[in-house]
Amino acid sequence: MDACRKYGNIRYHQISSDEVCGDLFFMERSGTEKVQFSAAESRRREMKVFVTGAGGQLGYDCVRELAARGHETVGSDLAAECAGISDLADRSIRYVPLDITDPQAVFAVISEIRPDAMIHCAAWTAVDAAEEEENRAKVDAVNHLGTKYLAEAAKASGARLLYLSTDYVFDGNGDRPWRPDDLTYAPLNYYGQTKLAGELAVRSIMEKYFIVRTAWVFGPNGGNFVKTMLRIGKARDSVQGVNDQTGTPTYTPDLAGLLADLIETEKYGIYHATNEGGYISWYDFCCEIYRQCGLDTAVIPVTAEEYGRSRARRPKNSRLDKSKLAENGFRPLPDWRDALARYLREAKL
Ligand SMILES: NC(=O)c1ccc[n+]([C@@H]2O[C@H](COP(=O)([O-])OP(=O)(O)OC[C@H]3O[C@@H](n4cnc5c(N)ncnc54)[C@H](OP(=O)(O)O)[C@@H]3O)[C@@H](O)[C@H]2O)c1
Repeated sequence: MDACRKYGNIRYHQISSDEVCGDLFFMERSGTEKVQFSAAESRRREMKVFVTGAGGQLGYDCVRELAARGHETVGSDLAAECAGISDLADRSIRYVPLDITDPQAVFAVISEIRPDAMIHCAAWTAVDAAEEEENRAKVDAVNHLGTKYLAEAAKASGARLLYLSTDYVFDGNGDRPWRPDDLTYAPLNYYGQTKLAGELAVRSIMEKYFIVRTAWVFGPNGGNFVKTMLRIGKARDSVQGVNDQTGTPTYTPDLAGLLADLIETEKYGIYHATNEGGYISWYDFCCEIYRQCGLDTAVIPVTAEEYGRSRARRPKNSRLDKSKLAENGFRPLPDWRDALARYLREAKL
């Protein structure tokens, strides 16, 4: 049967279907140019995506990834101008300043842009500073209320929403990897409490949402563990590495690719995503950073208690079970060692 669909002003006729990937293939009949593309591809072509936190580590790479895939991309952050985004050569990327703690501004911007999808990376991410009494209202306003306003605005404009969350919603007891559907939330710190409140707001307001919990993020746009350990390691003969917290690092360009894959589908739900390559400690991560950089700085393994410089408590067990990704047809992220090597090469560290 000759099914057809209309995209823009052009009518396309189905020429085949792919039973394996469940996709349909279309071709334009009229005109001289014959364009063959799949239904999934046509969905991609049509998407307008709004990214919060575009001046941060992950948001910056989400904007780059989405624009590279041909999506109409609007990056947003607090600052009036966004250094990272304006440095990008791609002038088709729009930047809109927005304070997500201002509900009127959130509704005005989203109803003006009318995105098809939103990737919400903006957050208060200074975990230790979040514990300070004078910062708490601000942290809740950004991580919880800002997320709630974005979810309400997304729902009102019919956009799907992808919210970034964290392993810190769990208390880190035991050594079993946390599954996306685990309900035993018990954040150990205030940052984790407010990120969990953001999750619960998204879930209570929206039907079409993704929640992606990630951990130990590093990327080219911003400060991170790799940069810090390299700076310290070049200045000292030895450093301490915490060896009683276990998780897996996440490289932002790799995660951004997965987030783009997710929002191009309707496979809504809660996912866990870090790089592959097993579960390690911060001590292991530091040793590998120095090994790949040829630094002979000694790394002394210590417990978080012995390290003693963190105000916020952090989970010992940050293992995230990512099997739901493959179960739903999404490609797992590469090995974290490979991601680290690419980062060191590309950032020329
Ligand atoms: N970093 C990690 O290790 C980690 C681990 C697990 C989960 N996550 C989650 O992953 C997401 C991305 O993390 P990231 O490391 O890319 O964060 P990031 O680099 O700190 O970027 C967050 C961005 O949000 C902006 N922002 C803060 N308050 C805002 C407001 N009121 N309105 C609009 N924008 C605001 C920040 O601007 P300013 O810099 O000007 O404040 C910053 O540019 C976050 O949701 C985070 O909770 C991160």
